[in-house]
Amino acid sequence: PARDKYLDTWKALEKLYADGRVRAIGVSNFQPSHLRRVLDEGSVVLAVNQIELSPYLVQQELRAFHADHGIATEAWSPLAKGGDLLGEQAVADIATAHGRTPAQVVLRWHLQLGNVVIPKSVTPSRVAENFDVFGFTLTDAEVAALSALDRGLRTGPDPDTFDLA
Ligand SMILES: NC(=O)c1ccc[n+]([C@@H]2O[C@H](COP(=O)([O-])OP(=O)(O)OC[C@H]3O[C@@H](n4cnc5c(N)ncnc54)[C@H](OP(=O)(O)O)[C@@H]3O)[C@@H](O)[C@H]2O)c1
Repeated sequence: PARDKYLDTWKALEKLYADGRVRAIGVSNFQPSHLRRVLDEGSVVLAVNQIELSPYLVQQELRAFHADHGIATEAWSPLAKGGDLLGEQAVADIATAHGRTPAQVVLRWHLQLGNVVIPKSVTPSRVAENFDVFGFTLTDAEVAALSALDRGLRTGPDPDTFDLA
């Protein structure tokens, strides 16, 4: 955004889409103001916005914006990089109640909010664990308890201040 290039870049993606060379186009780390500009001045609806999102960073405003405009929300660092979040008491209590792991509970929270999730692991047993999240359902109260962990905590750069320079 600091270089004011993202609309030009988006229009190049729109050309690829119009030419049939890609089936869908989307963005990453766009804030509502960036999305509004692309929606106002572009001609193709965004398929997805990939943003940092976890129970520590619930991203209520962006998720609502996406829902209003038919944009999929994709969560990067969905486990908040596997750090303190997985040791939270609220996460542990819910994991115990369902006989699941903390990571599975967090991934289930994402899915029940409607998020696309892309957890990363180099550990085969964790990759398998992270896929195995379709055999249980959190209650509304459990989803709310996990959302209550929100503290606006980013593990990566803030898109409003990030600059490559
Ligand atoms: N668009 C962007 O700007 C952006 C920025 C950052 C990341 N991303 C994307 O987001 C993806 C995931 O993000 P991320 O890697 O930052 O964070 P993450 O998926 O939230 O966390 C990854 C960490 O959690 C650990 N972990 C994974 N599964 C676990 C489990 N079941 N139990 C305990 N620990 C577990 C991993 O350890 P091990 O690997 O040692 O198992 C790794 O240290 C990346 O692959 C990347 O593509 C996008």
